[in-house]
Amino acid sequence: MRILVLGSGAREHAIITSLRGETPAHEIFAAPGNAGIAADVPIVVLDPNDPEAVTNHAIENDIELVVIGPEAPLVAGVADALRTRGIAVFGPGKAAAQLEGSKTFAKRIMDLAGVPTGRAARSGTLHEAESALDEFGAPYVVKADGLAAGKGVLVTSDREAAVEHARYWLQHGAVLVEEFLDGHEVSLFLLSDGHTVLPLSPAQDYKRLGDADAGPNTGGMGAYSPLPWLGEQFGSEEAFVDEVIDTIALPTIRQLAEEDTPFIGLLYCGLILTRVGIRVIEFNARFGDPETQVVLPRLVTPLSGLLMAASTGSLSTLARPEFSDAAAVTVVLASENYPDAPIIGREIAGLDGASAVPGVTIAHAATTSHDGSLVAAGGRVLNVVAVGADFAEARSRAYESLGHIRLEGGQFRTDIAARVAAS
Ligand code: AMP
Ligand code: GLY
Repeated sequence: MRILVLGSGAREHAIITSLRGETPAHEIFAAPGNAGIAADVPIVVLDPNDPEAVTNHAIENDIELVVIGPEAPLVAGVADALRTRGIAVFGPGKAAAQLEGSKTFAKRIMDLAGVPTGRAARSGTLHEAESALDEFGAPYVVKADGLAAGKGVLVTSDREAAVEHARYWLQHGAVLVEEFLDGHEVSLFLLSDGHTVLPLSPAQDYKRLGDADAGPNTGGMGAYSPLPWLGEQFGSEEAFVDEVIDTIALPTIRQLAEEDTPFIGLLYCGLILTRVGIRVIEFNARFGDPETQVVLPRLVTPLSGLLMAASTGSLSTLARPEFSDAAAVTVVLASENYPDAPIIGREIAGLDGASAVPGVTIAHAATTSHDGSLVAAGGRVLNVVAVGADFAEARSRAYESLGHIRLEGGQFRTDIAARVAAS
């Protein structure tokens, strides 16, 4: 198959790695990619957010499947343009992508579909936001309504800080004040063809910058999969997944189909397991980053067939995807000063040693080639992805690998999968 993958992060690198592992081999292209992706597949020079440019390229080059990694092309309508021209595309159209792009839209769909989520108040003025803060009480949760690149959410016990956050984001639109939900977080990905869903294996993301969940929220500093402790709480991982399908994913997909905005692509359910049940904290309309880096290495079923079936309305003909029992851990290496103002342009060294550790692959996130050397080009620079027979092995491989990598000022968490490895 001739496949074009849009995006430039570690998530896209992981998707490409997974597709490259299949036989018979595919012809894979990426736009815009990064230095690590460019070492693996040809790069196509085009703007991934330009619907016309992507569609024309796909037609002229006999692309059979376009896989959209990040949210920006979705919200820009790239999937709509491709679908109109009859090209198979994994990713929802602009309207359904509002599930991620607008928290107000997501809450409306959840309300109509009866999906369990936290109570929330949409506030257009500071006065409304303050009333909602006082109504819900501490800890306070304030969210920007639109896309905010992981910076829109503040969870704090400091009322002044909550008000400041609301004041800042109100300049860009509305904010949502939400009830605080307490419990373990789980990311569950479901492939959707608009009517049927098939689940991938659950993962846990580490959103905060520092060890023990200290510091600001980030795009994600590490992840692991599977989640063995789900079995204790729900009897089995499968029972958990079934509950999410029945009470969250299918009602959401049906509601979107009913509104003539079928969701074709990846439904990312960001969940909190509270004492009173599973609650949705957010939906995303794409694969999660860094969770994808730990879910795909465990996927046994060929990814291309799943993405193609979702894109062409034929998921109901497939069995649930199979996963290995291996433990997968990923640790993100970020630039100095990430997430506020990452220092970029610094050289990265030691990747040969890092990728020689057994079970380890390096997924590049923001890397570029400069005068023959590899340099950091953004906040999250790369992911070390390690697979092992158990979490202790996967974790020690990941950190051994990181020990080989040199990036001035580079930061990473040292506690990814520590608790699950110890239990
Ligand atoms: P979001 O971008 O909506 O996923 O939020 C980022 C992070 O903020 C989540 O992963 C949670 O850790 C936290 N968070 C968001 N909403 C809530 C909530 N209602 N209660 C507690 N924590 C939350
Ligand atoms: N890891 C969180 C996200 O992809 O949004």
